[in-house]
This record gives sequence, C-alpha cells and structure tokens, in this order.
Amino acid sequence: MKYNEMSRQQLEQEFATVKKEYEQFFDLHLSLDMSRGKPGFENADLSEDLSCAVNRETGYKNADGTDCRNYGGLDGLTELKQLFGAILGVPSTQVIVGGNSSLNLMFDTIAQAMTHGVCGGKPWFTEEKRKFLCPAPGYDRHFGVTEYFGFELVTVPMTDEGPDMDAVEEWVKDPTVKGIWCVPKYSNPEGLTYSDAVVRRMAALRPAASDFRVFWDNAYAVHDLYEQGDSLLDFYAECERAGNPDLCLLFTSTSKITFPGAGVAAVAASPANISWLKNRMTYQTIGPDKINQLRHARILRNMDDVCAQMKRHAALLRPKFDCVLAEMDRQLADPGIARWSKPKGGYFISLYVPNGCAQRVWKLCADVGMVLTKSGATYPYGKDPDDANLRIAPSFPPVEEIARAAEVLCVAVRYAALEQLLS
Ligand SMILES: Cc1ncc(COP(=O)(O)O)c(C=O)c1O
Repeated sequence: MKYNEMSRQQLEQEFATVKKEYEQFFDLHLSLDMSRGKPGFENADLSEDLSCAVNRETGYKNADGTDCRNYGGLDGLTELKQLFGAILGVPSTQVIVGGNSSLNLMFDTIAQAMTHGVCGGKPWFTEEKRKFLCPAPGYDRHFGVTEYFGFELVTVPMTDEGPDMDAVEEWVKDPTVKGIWCVPKYSNPEGLTYSDAVVRRMAALRPAASDFRVFWDNAYAVHDLYEQGDSLLDFYAECERAGNPDLCLLFTSTSKITFPGAGVAAVAASPANISWLKNRMTYQTIGPDKINQLRHARILRNMDDVCAQMKRHAALLRPKFDCVLAEMDRQLADPGIARWSKPKGGYFISLYVPNGCAQRVWKLCADVGMVLTKSGATYPYGKDPDDANLRIAPSFPPVEEIARAAEVLCVAVRYAALEQLLS
C-alpha cells in the first residue's frame, strides 16, 4: 500500500515495524561504504598484469622505439594516443595522454584559462564575473573545481535526455558564462546517456563568449554493465559538422578500466585547442610517466582488449547493481516514496527520496555504520534545493555485503519518509 494512502494508525504501525528493523542494524556493528564510485578490490585485481608488463625482460621501449624511462614525449605514447583517440572519436594526433587523473587535466585546463586565457583570449581571472554551467544532479568534484576558481555555479536541470538544452541555450547568451560540465555517458549520478538531440544541440551552441568550452568528461565511455549498452553520438564529429570544432574539450581515463590510483588519463580536442594546451604543458613538465603509459599500452593493445576488460568488470559489478535495484523494488516500490535510475552502465544509481528527507536518510545510514555520498553533494555548493537526491555507489562493497547495504539504505528511506509523514 502506498504510504500516502495509509491512515495515521496504519502509518504508526508501519513506522513501529520499520523502526524495529532499523534498530537491529546497531547490533551488527556494520562498516559499509556506498559513498564513492570506487572499484572493488576484485575489479582492481583484473589489471594485475600491469605490475609485470614492463621490466628488464620486456624492455622499456614502445612501438616507436622510445625508451620510456627517459624524459620527453610531452603528449604521450603513440599507442595510447591511438587508443584514447578511438575511445573519444578524435584522430590520435589530437590527443594528449597525461598522468593518472582526468580530473587533474580538467583542473589544469581551467587553471590555464584563468591565468592565460583560452587560445589567445583574455585570462579569465581578469573578468569581474564568471559563471559555469553545472547540470545537476552532477559530479561534485566538477562543481568543486569551478567553485575553487571563484566561478558562480549555475544549476542547469537534468532531463531524461541530458541537460535541459533550452536552459543551456539561454544561458550561453550571457558572455560571462565560460563553460559547462558534461558527463555524457552513464552520467554521474543519473546513469543516463545524452540523447542524439542533446548532443547535436550542444555541438551547435553559439555562445556569446568565444572562449566558452564544453568540458565533455566521458569518464564512463566504455563502462557498460549489460550486453546491450547505451550509445552516445560522437561529440567531436558533431561539433565539426556544426562548424564548431573548438567548442569542445574531451576527457577520459582508465581509472575504472585499470587502476583509479595508477591509471592513465587523456584530453582530446581540435588542433587549435590541443596546441593551446601544449603551450602550458611545455612549461609544466618534461614528459608524463611513460612507464605507466607503456604498461597500459601493453595490456590494452586495442579496443578489443578494452572491451574484453570491460566485460570482466561488468561481470563483477552487474550483480551488485542488480542486488541494489532488486532491494529498491522490494522495499520502495509499494510505498511509492522514492524513484531511482536504472542505469545500463557507469558507477551510480541516482535515488530520489521525498523532498526534505535526503539528509535524514544519510544520517540514519551513517548512524548504523554505512557511509553514503553526502546528501546535497550532487548539486552546486553541496546544496540540493529539494533535499531529495542521493548518489548510490554500489561498486565498492564486496558482493557478500551489498545485500545488507541495500537493505540498510531502503529501511532508512522508509524510516525517514514515515517520520516525515507522521510529523
Ligand atoms: C564523471 C567523472 N569524471 C572524472 C572522475 C575522476 O576521474 P579520474 O580518476 O580520471 O581523475 C570521476 C570519478 O568518479 C567521475 O565520476
């Protein structure tokens, strides 16, 4: 029965039952973590071969004969430029392969625009007002980067197809709007993939600021959970078709293909943007960690290797997602108090609880030993105007703990909803 159809007496009865269920969790002394999109240990084990891929016996040279122990090779090894070019849909000559973090590449790109401007434009710091578009719910660390650099964060609502493009088209008429954060495939946290229409409208933007850039963070480009994954239009090709090749900066990494703490990241863009980025890098480094790049080039030789690796990841992750989704169906469908995404890939489930309850659910979980991403984190400034959204990351807890984690979460949602209805 739906909670909003229950009499007060029925609600009180239900609350007594749920409270009892909840209180039993204290005795279990739980230590569960569904907070960050971290792969589990068994996912990391899939890339064990990295540790022996480069040594004295295998040699230290890549296909071009570059000795990867030495300085040089600013934009990365040819093999990886080709691989990331294939993932991002850009020629390999327009790819820069960096260190282990794509977030780091995004941060550096914004920092460069701040101090030196974009492609010969005015440094962003000289502009009195600066705004950045933040589709929300979205990735907290994106919002954090632009908050750190003093941008006003502008919330753009997410629709079922991606960011609300009517709002985006309106906002880019403002010359103080300098960019937009996008996670176009299996978005964080909604798990949705932008529709063709959204990709085309994004590619055709004509922002008032000529130094406006779309930060296209394709972190989950190859991260299908099921045989039939989502497909995303090729953004760079669409930008070119729209006569807009300089609009976009594309990012990705192997963080969730190999190791998040020791992977390889890349940025791809138009020739003009790549040469602008390299201007900075010439001063910043004498070359990236090519040994780690070489390790990756040896275990991920082509897209077939990447796809095979992602299938192995999916086999480990899918049961965790299925388990959480089944528990949500079991506990939350009938009461009619929540809705949630059912992603075909990526790392997150986005859960919407009754307005005003997300913070309470977070606290109820924390009190019995389960960490969730802080409520509000999926919105600019950490403030969810409805206090309704929670980002659920099922990837990390071991499969034997995930059922318990899902149970705790759903009991906490029912607890908070009933408490609110009875208050
Ligand atoms: C959308 C998105 N971008 C970037 C990252 C971080 O990527 P990296 O490890 O390459 O810095 C994450 C990690 O969760 C993410 O969800």
